[in-house]
Amino acid sequence: MLKTTLLNAVEAGAAELTRFFNQSFTVSNKQGINNLVTEADHAAEAAILNVIKQDFPNHYILSEEAGEIVQDSKYKWIIDPIDGTVNFAHSIPLCCVAIAIECEGEIIMAAVYNPNLNELFFAEKGQGAMLNQKKISVSEKTNVLNACLVTGFPYTYLDMPNGPLEIFSRLIRKGIPVRRLGSAAIDLCWVAAGRFDGFYEHKLEAWDSASGFLIVEEAGGRVTDFKGKKFSHYQPHVVATNGKIHEELLAVINNEKEL
Ligand code: IPD
Ligand code: CA
Ligand code: CA
Repeated sequence: MLKTTLLNAVEAGAAELTRFFNQSFTVSNKQGINNLVTEADHAAEAAILNVIKQDFPNHYILSEEAGEIVQDSKYKWIIDPIDGTVNFAHSIPLCCVAIAIECEGEIIMAAVYNPNLNELFFAEKGQGAMLNQKKISVSEKTNVLNACLVTGFPYTYLDMPNGPLEIFSRLIRKGIPVRRLGSAAIDLCWVAAGRFDGFYEHKLEAWDSASGFLIVEEAGGRVTDFKGKKFSHYQPHVVATNGKIHEELLAVINNEKEL
């Protein structure tokens, strides 16, 4: 039942994303000048919440635009109605609906759906990860120098040691390809599918990272914070890799190793 509701919810959200994609819609700003929210984010969120509330009216909900619907339940649905909103607003087809289900503090099921590419990623704890019903697994690359990486930059720049530009600079000075797609959920799923060998980002929220975290782990990858500690989607730092380059990428992030 959880799985059916989850898939119905991502589909309902994605139908709204598709309805507004490349059309006209209202856009407003959140904190940070290009941190946008569109009419489509709200429509997708309403459609998703409608599905979940109908099947599980007593479950806790944490959704990016609507905030928290606090309930006394061991289940929490963590929702990003559109991840990659800036892409969406510019008709760039790298955007998706991302939903994770937490049970007693642990992510147990997740789905990320990009209807523009018809790619549905799904994972259930202990059952592996799938792309359109085919099992996926992370890449085999064993070192950072040969890796293809992806990252994201926060809307409000973080001027700090080992900040986004410092790490980016360390990598690209060595000729390592580092892509920047603009959707953390898609970045994580593409690590799970073996398209990227690793991903890191400095400032994600629970709705950006929770779904992709499980999908990467179930595809055989590793996800931690910047110190290599067990990942929690309630803290901002994410490093997700195929596992094999994880320690080396952590060392580069923390400036403990010259590439
Ligand atoms: C954003 C995307 C982006 C990441 C930002 C997120 P949104 O989410 O995931 O890749 O760099 O930090 O806020 O605003 O498109 O839902
Ligand atoms: Ca997001
Ligand atoms: Ca969003």
